[in-house]
Amino acid sequence: MRRKIVAGNWKMNTTIQEGELLVKQLNFLTKEISADIDVIVAPPFTHLTAISSLIKSDNSNISVAAQNCSDKESGAFTGEVSAKMLQGAGCRYVIIGHSERREYFGEINETLLKKTELALSEGLSPIYCIGERLEEREQNRHFEVVAEQIKEVLYKLRGLDMERVIVAYEPVWAIGTGKTATSDQAEEMHAYIRRVIAGKFPKLADSIPILYGGSCKPSNAKDLFSRENVDGGLIGGASLNAQDFTEIIKSF
Ligand code: PGA
Repeated sequence: MRRKIVAGNWKMNTTIQEGELLVKQLNFLTKEISADIDVIVAPPFTHLTAISSLIKSDNSNISVAAQNCSDKESGAFTGEVSAKMLQGAGCRYVIIGHSERREYFGEINETLLKKTELALSEGLSPIYCIGERLEEREQNRHFEVVAEQIKEVLYKLRGLDMERVIVAYEPVWAIGTGKTATSDQAEEMHAYIRRVIAGKFPKLADSIPILYGGSCKPSNAKDLFSRENVDGGLIGGASLNAQDFTEIIKSF
């Protein structure tokens, strides 16, 4: 049985106070959630310690992820935040390779491999994001693009490390656009991703969680999560509202 996971990517939203309030609401609303669903929130860096402490003191089952980490271990890299720092701030997960990082901050697979390795070496589980742009899908290159994103990063990991990776398929054309992939499109790609992973890690492919991301909301989560290879979601916009995010979690 694969883990079911719903992760909220807050992006560059909320003040610390707003973030704390959101988590308090979530703690309350998710009390009754079945223990086999992992709930994760990914607030901005500045909030990580406060939110981790809040979660601990509330005895909540929610875990904390960072949205990014440095590809350097430590040293003179102004403005960077290392995987070790995230670990110390109470994170269990880190999102790596989100399309906004690839697109706006020029992150390439080579950098993402370094980030993934550093995260793993600090005991964090990477949530590795992949997904094609609209023009790539229109040119029928979506499978090829996604396979390359997997091969250039995940294929380079050791099996022991790969066991701790979560994959998030986020078609770029669906992120923040209100345009969700249909559950058929998601299932088709998730099954493909699992086959590509099996090309290098045949024993693990069946147990790696693959999340869907891109305009996932209460109205479509049930359909998406019902598909065999969709193990949950990486939620942007809808994770900023405790009711909506909880409804998504309850869609399993
Ligand atoms: P969205 O974002 O749910 O707002 O489309 C998803 C993501 O970028 O992780």
